[in-house]
Amino acid sequence: MAKILITGGTGYIGSHTVVSLIEQGYEAIIIDNLCNSSIESLDGVEAITGIRPLFEQIDMQNRASLDDFFYRHADIKAVIHFAALKAVGESVEKPVEYYRNNLGSLLNLVASMQKFSVGNLIFSSSATVYGEPDSLPIMEFHPVKPAMSPYGNTKKICEDIISDTARVNKEFHAISLRYFNPIGAHESGFIGELPQGVPNNLMPFITQTAAGIRKELKVFGDDYDTPDGTAVRDYIHVVDLANAHVKALDRLMKENQDDNYEVFNLGTGNGFSVLEVIKSFEKTSGLKLPYQIVDRRSGDVEATYASTTLANEKLNWKAERTLDEMTYSSWNWEKKARKMD
Ligand code: NAD
Ligand code: UFG
Repeated sequence: MAKILITGGTGYIGSHTVVSLIEQGYEAIIIDNLCNSSIESLDGVEAITGIRPLFEQIDMQNRASLDDFFYRHADIKAVIHFAALKAVGESVEKPVEYYRNNLGSLLNLVASMQKFSVGNLIFSSSATVYGEPDSLPIMEFHPVKPAMSPYGNTKKICEDIISDTARVNKEFHAISLRYFNPIGAHESGFIGELPQGVPNNLMPFITQTAAGIRKELKVFGDDYDTPDGTAVRDYIHVVDLANAHVKALDRLMKENQDDNYEVFNLGTGNGFSVLEVIKSFEKTSGLKLPYQIVDRRSGDVEATYASTTLANEKLNWKAERTLDEMTYSSWNWEKKARKMD
């Protein structure tokens, strides 16, 4: 049973990936500093899989702690690196904190991995690296644009650090996965996303509004050049996203790919507008969602959706879950987490 390190594994996408890994027979070990997650997510993982993964509270900015970790776990075969700060707006307010945390963690990780001869890395990147796309669907070879936020820039720079490392070290195999818009939760309702404070993202804002925590959803702009005027995104169910990591890991562990650094988009390939997401939520929850159209949010792109051909072919993976399954599971999780059932 190959032992896999999941950094940021108590977080939203990390905890779902831990479940997928365990279900596929991998041994998962997590490190996280718990700056944006709770140890309780391990209870959820255990309730779903029957296995409580090993956990160590480590801040990845601390190189000595990371080295010590790899020294004690010499049998780690690969790392999936989720740990990062991820709030776009906050990154504009606190750029130094974002650069220090996201770049520092990755630099420490790559250095430790090389020191301890761990040669397989999967990195959580983002569709944000494409900026405002010139054409749709977005393909992996499309240009990476100047970042629209310090957060986005950390993703671009991390990709560069990884690709430069892979170029000079052929024993170092890495994959960057560019996520489109992950939403939804595990169907059990035992794990999901519970952001602290006011959510930046659409789905948690919708579920918090439905839960009565927010008065109404503000829809940012209805004057885009899209079928209903609201912005279009490629929403992907977090369980599909998690499963893609296992496929990427399978590919890395085979070590027979042509290139030791690869990039894949992870989306469904379908774009949905904000109003379509609201409609789906109202249908699957049976609730009426209060919302108001307001001005566009600065920095938002009009429409993005992925070409998934490369991931379909090379990772042998395809997103399977529908938008209705995404909105249903998001609400199921929110209700359970807030004990509203
Ligand atoms: P999350 O905040 O739920 O998970 C990230 C985890 O990393 C948290 O548990 C946090 O405590 C931990 N962490 C942060 N800095 C750390 C450090 N220095 N040391 C140890 N742990 C640290 O976020 P998520 O939504 O699960 O995102 C996971 C990854 O995917 C992130 O890298 C994020 O940038 C990327 N991503 C997310 C989205 C999205 O919409 N959720 C989209 C694209 C990319
Ligand atoms: N939206 C609203 N009201 C809200 C929140 C969002 O109308 O309260 C709209 C946005 O304007 C956008 C859509 O819903 O049109 C999705 O917004 P999100 O904030 O959920 O997602 P983004 O596409 O803006 O951001 C996501 C990730 C970022 C990443 C970015 C670019 O959350 O990490 O994609 O790829 F940087």
